[in-house]
Amino acid sequence: MIIGIIKEVQKYESRVSITPEIVKKLLKNEHSVIIESGSGDNSFYSDSLYKNAGAKIAKSSADVLKESDILFKVNPPNESEIKQIKSNSTVVSFFQIKDEVKNIPHYINSKLSILSMSHIPRTTLAQNMDALSSQSNIAGYKATIIGADHISKYMPLLMTAAGTIKPAKVLILGAGVAGLAAIANAKRMGAQVYAFDVRPVVKEQVESLGANFIEVESDSDEGVGEGGYAKEVSDDYKQKQAELINETIKSMDIIISTALIPEKPAPILINKEMVESMQPGSAIIDLAAVNGGNCELTKCDEIISHKDVIIDGRSYLPSTMAQDASQLYAKNLFNLFNHIYNGENPLNLEDEITNGSLILNNGEVNNEILSKFLKEEQK
Ligand code: NAI
Repeated sequence: MIIGIIKEVQKYESRVSITPEIVKKLLKNEHSVIIESGSGDNSFYSDSLYKNAGAKIAKSSADVLKESDILFKVNPPNESEIKQIKSNSTVVSFFQIKDEVKNIPHYINSKLSILSMSHIPRTTLAQNMDALSSQSNIAGYKATIIGADHISKYMPLLMTAAGTIKPAKVLILGAGVAGLAAIANAKRMGAQVYAFDVRPVVKEQVESLGANFIEVESDSDEGVGEGGYAKEVSDDYKQKQAELINETIKSMDIIISTALIPEKPAPILINKEMVESMQPGSAIIDLAAVNGGNCELTKCDEIISHKDVIIDGRSYLPSTMAQDASQLYAKNLFNLFNHIYNGENPLNLEDEITNGSLILNNGEVNNEILSKFLKEEQK
């Protein structure tokens, strides 16, 4: 197959979907790779590295799009790019159905296939393809570093001749992939770490990382939904949770919020009054900004200050570590590609990973949520 890569043009995006190491692996499997010049510049993979690995360098994205059988991308292509993609070819990217519905007719007209990195089932077999997790891990790690940068305090305990400095206090709301990475790094940095999640099962993981788990008293596993994911909690639980967070955040220096319920807007866990009760100089890093935020005051992709509390709503933290983020993403993508196209039965729709990630198959819809969206649009 001819695998194509074009420059990512979305605002704040610095990642690239392939590394020279993956180019070599693809060539070894008798595929060829064509890449638009400069695609890896922002993640420090130069044209010459790709060329030495065996890729063909193209002058423009149009040259890549007209030749490729499959396009490796981070973000879905924009409308003008989609129109230039060769008919019957495939695009792999972080595809979000709700954001892309307007472009679907173009995909259908050109009989394209869409493989979505956002829809790979979170199973054991798919772990090495799970790009949402590899990128959330980076976001959690980076959130602690920017949190430490925002506050005007040390993170660890310091005993000096000039006196003792107490460790910073960090609260993590939501102990999923990003939250656990944040806990681990905040501990490494020497902070005193607290974490909260609606799923009581994560208590053990939080404590094994050396953090304190804060619990809402409840008789049941209220927040536990299908497949171990979170589900929305009752009003009574929300009330108790709000009281607990309200009490806890008054003494915190950094809050990193990551709470997410699949397919829903992010739950609001920190309201304006709570922010106003925080210590001056403290900071909230709201990783859920792109889904509306866990803090009522968060503005997506902005860093604001409210009554001396910084609220950081940047949604592109993996892009700020583009070199490693690209390396992990490219590996995840390569593993998915190999899973789907290697062997005697490529694009086997009986396979859970293939079927889950294939949203459109040669212009035919292969996803229930997309099908629903399209029916709604037609009404
Ligand atoms: P995840 O699904 O692994 O974790 C979310 C956690 O939130 C789960 O443990 C869930 O139980 C918990 N949760 C749900 N409702 C809650 C509530 N009311 N109170 C407390 N905890 C609650 O998700 P992942 O991969 O860790 O992503 C977390 C967030 O980070 C997402 O919103 C994602 O979009 C975002 N993200 C942000 C990036 C950035 O640059 N800002 C980059 C990557 C991800």
